[in-house]
Amino acid sequence: MTDSLTIRRPDDWHVHLRDGAMLEAVVGHTARQFARAIVMPNLTPPVTTVAAAQAYRERIIAALPEGADFTPLMTCYLTNNTDPDEVRRGFEAGVFTACKLYPAGATTNSDSGVTDVANIRGVLEVMAEIGMVLCVHGEVTSADVDIFDREAVFIERTLAPLLKGLPDLKVVFEHLTSEEGVQFVESAGANVAATITPQHLHINRNAMLVGGMRPHAYCLPVAKREKHRLALRRAATSGSPKFFLGTDSAPHAREAKESACGCAGIFNAPFALESYLSVFEDEGAIDHFEGFASENGPRFYGLPMNEDRVTLERAQTEVPEAIKADGTQLVPFHAGEKLRWRFLG
Ligand code: NCD
Ligand code: ZN
Repeated sequence: MTDSLTIRRPDDWHVHLRDGAMLEAVVGHTARQFARAIVMPNLTPPVTTVAAAQAYRERIIAALPEGADFTPLMTCYLTNNTDPDEVRRGFEAGVFTACKLYPAGATTNSDSGVTDVANIRGVLEVMAEIGMVLCVHGEVTSADVDIFDREAVFIERTLAPLLKGLPDLKVVFEHLTSEEGVQFVESAGANVAATITPQHLHINRNAMLVGGMRPHAYCLPVAKREKHRLALRRAATSGSPKFFLGTDSAPHAREAKESACGCAGIFNAPFALESYLSVFEDEGAIDHFEGFASENGPRFYGLPMNEDRVTLERAQTEVPEAIKADGTQLVPFHAGEKLRWRFLG
């Protein structure tokens, strides 16, 4: 039995760090475990320009705890009006690492998102040309599509046709939640990969709905049936280079989650690696953990791997019921549970 595991330092390829006092409260949790993170641009207003991304990057760096060694990788929020030249300029200047496609209305702060991918055709052509990654929130938003089917329908209606037209575009299917998504990514070319969150490996929709409504298990895309969770666990732990770590840590104040219209998002940053590692251990795939957490992401993005190492030991970690932040509380993923690994740094 492995009692301690030392791996190349991981990165988080999808995180919401927020802004202002919330940013100050949460960024240290991500910087403690990860060397770099792809930072989502869904602020209000969204990060749509090179100047805004540069300013946000500076605010993130200023909010880091003393001595933290962490590099935020910035993304450009695509709208119907995004200028292809702005995207090219930001990528070439090393400000934008990727662009983020939010179908308008799909999730938190996505109102300015894209209403039809035809509207960003020029941007996507430039991205394919320069080898820039498109991070995709893969859900349709039509009222006639059931929320549990929105990822599968997005593949059919949007993503498959998009890749047919732009077969070289590098796409990360973010926070994959379905068996259909796994099959699509597996059968696509090497230019298509996916991130997987800890929550979608641990919970299915029962966690949200059995024994009462549990807002802290609610995120988007929503957790689905057990067969989907099992498909995600197989994919994440398979050793395939197409799947990598992206927490989608998305903090919302306790009162915003425990509400008549609760916000979507799970705050998993504080114990993300412990959470993922327990899944790999249960699947008998600890030897694939380093690839998922630390190698597949940089390889896909064409970035160097981290050279330093982190260690996790087999020891009980008690996840607190709540974490203070911005004058309120955040309820972390696994709140009140005991995890069997501990991150040592
Ligand atoms: C995210 C948020 O709160 O910003 N919420 C979530 O449930 N994951 C947005 C997103 O990634 O969909
Ligand atoms: Zn997200």
